[in-house]
Amino acid sequence: MNRYLPSRREFIKTTGRVAAATALAGMSVPRVYAAGSDTLQLALIGCGGRGTGAVVDAMSVKSGGVKLVAMADVFAARLEQSHGALSDGHGDKMDVPPDRRLIGFDGYQRAMDCLKPGDIAILATPLAFRPVHFSYAIQKCLHLFMEKPLSADGPSSRRMLQLAQDASVKNLKVAVGLMSRHNRAIQELGQRLQDGAIGDIIFMRGYRMSGPGGSCFSEKWPGGAPSELLWQIARFHSFIWASGGLYNDFYIHLIDNLCMMKNAWPVKAQALGGRHYRKSPEGNLYVDQNFDSYSVEYTFADGAKMLLDGRCVAGCNEIYSSYAHGSKGMAVVSAHGDCGMPSSIHSAQNPQPSNAIWISNVKPDETNPYLNEWNDLVDAIRRDHPYNEATRGVQASVVSSMGRMAAHTGQEVTYDQMLNHADAYAPDADKFTMDSAPPLRSAPDGSYPIPMPGIITQHEYAMT
Ligand SMILES: NC(=O)c1ccc[n+]([C@@H]2O[C@H](COP(=O)([O-])OP(=O)(O)OC[C@H]3O[C@@H](n4cnc5c(N)ncnc54)[C@H](O)[C@@H]3O)[C@@H](O)[C@H]2O)c1
Repeated sequence: MNRYLPSRREFIKTTGRVAAATALAGMSVPRVYAAGSDTLQLALIGCGGRGTGAVVDAMSVKSGGVKLVAMADVFAARLEQSHGALSDGHGDKMDVPPDRRLIGFDGYQRAMDCLKPGDIAILATPLAFRPVHFSYAIQKCLHLFMEKPLSADGPSSRRMLQLAQDASVKNLKVAVGLMSRHNRAIQELGQRLQDGAIGDIIFMRGYRMSGPGGSCFSEKWPGGAPSELLWQIARFHSFIWASGGLYNDFYIHLIDNLCMMKNAWPVKAQALGGRHYRKSPEGNLYVDQNFDSYSVEYTFADGAKMLLDGRCVAGCNEIYSSYAHGSKGMAVVSAHGDCGMPSSIHSAQNPQPSNAIWISNVKPDETNPYLNEWNDLVDAIRRDHPYNEATRGVQASVVSSMGRMAAHTGQEVTYDQMLNHADAYAPDADKFTMDSAPPLRSAPDGSYPIPMPGIITQHEYAMT
């Protein structure tokens, strides 16, 4: 079995789990949609678990009329695996002959070139490539669905904010895979909290504490093929340049749904974090850049606090949920997982059925937020409603990076410091070829620079 590919069972499990701006005021912009046809064509860039799941969701929208016509990936085997999985059940909604299955770092361009203005590009690679792919999609006048997180450093966050504006100027619709925003229970809860259901929100807390996930811990690159660059991409949760590390990738949903409750972004963060175990159970050195434990205290402009506890250590207490506390009661935001229902409001600070004053009750056909986000996007495209989630997606990404940076440096980090930080982690992502060196080079023992709080304080790790 190829060790860089999930088994068929794992792949289907992941895919199944996840399947499921406005135009400038007063400015006349053309209506951009699939001209001359009601069919919206899709190009999938990044044919992994989430990208494949997103295509299934797109094909399942209520209005129908969505068809996959091109796919791109840097690993041929991953593309073929995705193509095979989609063909098994959705073959009638796809037409991706071999010449539209595009391999390589320029595959995104060739895939988007297969679309017409007003079609949809799905960006589901690790985040390092978002600005490159977003920029080309805007150039081609394509609507977008792009997965979270959107950025890991200051320069790419600023670039993405600019691109978000550029997309709005062209009246493009942009969806971001922060699906809590399309969870009908969390949407209603947010409205109720804005209306004062628990008084002033003074404290919020989110927990994702479980065993290691995805590729967050890595033993050293074994050499040979795939190249070190492709190996880092395949193990993107291990590298801050590729994913923002496990902190951004795993915790952004809880951060986002809590900030949605507060209807604000925090202005600063201080944090604890560390790595208890730097060796695999077999005794091999882990070389990734992550901590295994994070506890980040965010502060909002009004002084309210938000705590995000994340732990990737097996055998410890497991909690995966989020809560908001106010002066008159509290709310369960995500009952389980990133945004699991039901959400509820309680008259006291400890959630009990006996003190529940509201429990969400979502229509059966709107219980899947992954599907809702696609119905909402396609509806906005077909009705030409303003729809651009990119700015908000960048803001959630900056808040995630601010917490990660605070833990990794041992310093207080403000939102503005994070957004304006000069360090770029993958500045040449637009120039990668299959032979490129990775942005992070290994030492002779296979190790990479890691965060050292209190010692390296102005950067996240030794930038050479
Ligand atoms: N919203 C959610 O709940 C959710 C769930 C899972 C993943 N995600 C996000 O989706 C993204 C992908 O995650 P995944 O779990 O599907 O990972 P994955 O490794 O399964 O898939 C990523 C795919 O992108 C390909 N790829 C990497 N760089 C590429 C490039 N430059 N051009 C073309 N293809 C490239 C990889 O080869 C791989 O096939 C991540 O940003 C992740 O955070 C979101």
